[in-house]
Amino acid sequence: MNIKGNTILITGGASGIGYQFSKAFYNKGNQIIVCGRNNDKLLALKESFPEIVTKQCDVANADERVALFEWVTANYPNINVIVNNAGIQNRFNVLTADAKNDWDTLNSEIKINLDATVQLSILFGQYFAKSNKTASIINVSSGLAFSPMAIAPIYSATKAAVSSFSTSLRHQLSETNTNVYEVIPPAVNTDLGGKGIHTFGANPIDFINEIFTGLEQDKVYIGYGSSKDRLTMTKNELDQVTENMYKELKDTI
Ligand SMILES: NC(=O)c1ccc[n+]([C@@H]2O[C@H](COP(=O)([O-])OP(=O)(O)OC[C@H]3O[C@@H](n4cnc5c(N)ncnc54)[C@H](OP(=O)(O)O)[C@@H]3O)[C@@H](O)[C@H]2O)c1
Repeated sequence: MNIKGNTILITGGASGIGYQFSKAFYNKGNQIIVCGRNNDKLLALKESFPEIVTKQCDVANADERVALFEWVTANYPNINVIVNNAGIQNRFNVLTADAKNDWDTLNSEIKINLDATVQLSILFGQYFAKSNKTASIINVSSGLAFSPMAIAPIYSATKAAVSSFSTSLRHQLSETNTNVYEVIPPAVNTDLGGKGIHTFGANPIDFINEIFTGLEQDKVYIGYGSSKDRLTMTKNELDQVTENMYKELKDTI
């Protein structure tokens, strides 16, 4: 991927891994558009980087996703890259979850992590295919796509689905001008799932530096640390990782 001179939409680009994408792509000479729910985070980003365009949008909501697509393509018709990064993580026990009365909470991971990635990939994939610019769709999955963390069962399932969808998307777009990349983070030190849960994770700057090397080298699966290892493990080895994680974490839910 040519990492300079693009117009890039980054969902959830005002904090965490998304912020690292925004900052790194900005510093390499790209026009950046960031969407997120929390207006204070968007304002803080704008204060540090006045040239970054921000747009409030809740990607859990299908109408807001379509409105975001319409707004971006009307105002920034040269858009040629989307980073589907926005995501949440819920940890819960399936034996005590209230799937009758609290389905909205349980379902929110599916809407944000999966539905938004799929819908925005299709909308922008079609738009990119009609333009004559080289384009990229960068979908953020997780090492948990390959070995689920059983205490976050829906989260892990959404990431496996994002990974699978991205592979199909890559095949369907292979005769167009659009490349599809899957970024596969291991645990990274961000606020995912709530403050303090991921402090043991990788340094976000080291992580993003290696991801950018992968993008420049046109790798389609871009992992880091343990998530890179999972790309080459056997099914038995992946199952063992899942079992070890569950033993260690089962008393936390
Ligand atoms: N950190 C890790 O260990 C790790 C590991 C594997 C994969 N990942 C993936 O990396 C991506 C980024 O996560 P992170 O670690 O950076 O988490 P984070 O620090 O919690 O950041 C998540 C970002 O997503 C945005 N977001 C969440 N729900 C949204 C919604 N409905 N609409 C718009 N924006 C929304 C948030 O913005 P608002 O606060 O404004 O909503 C925030 O900027 C996610 O897809 C996550 O699954 C992370």
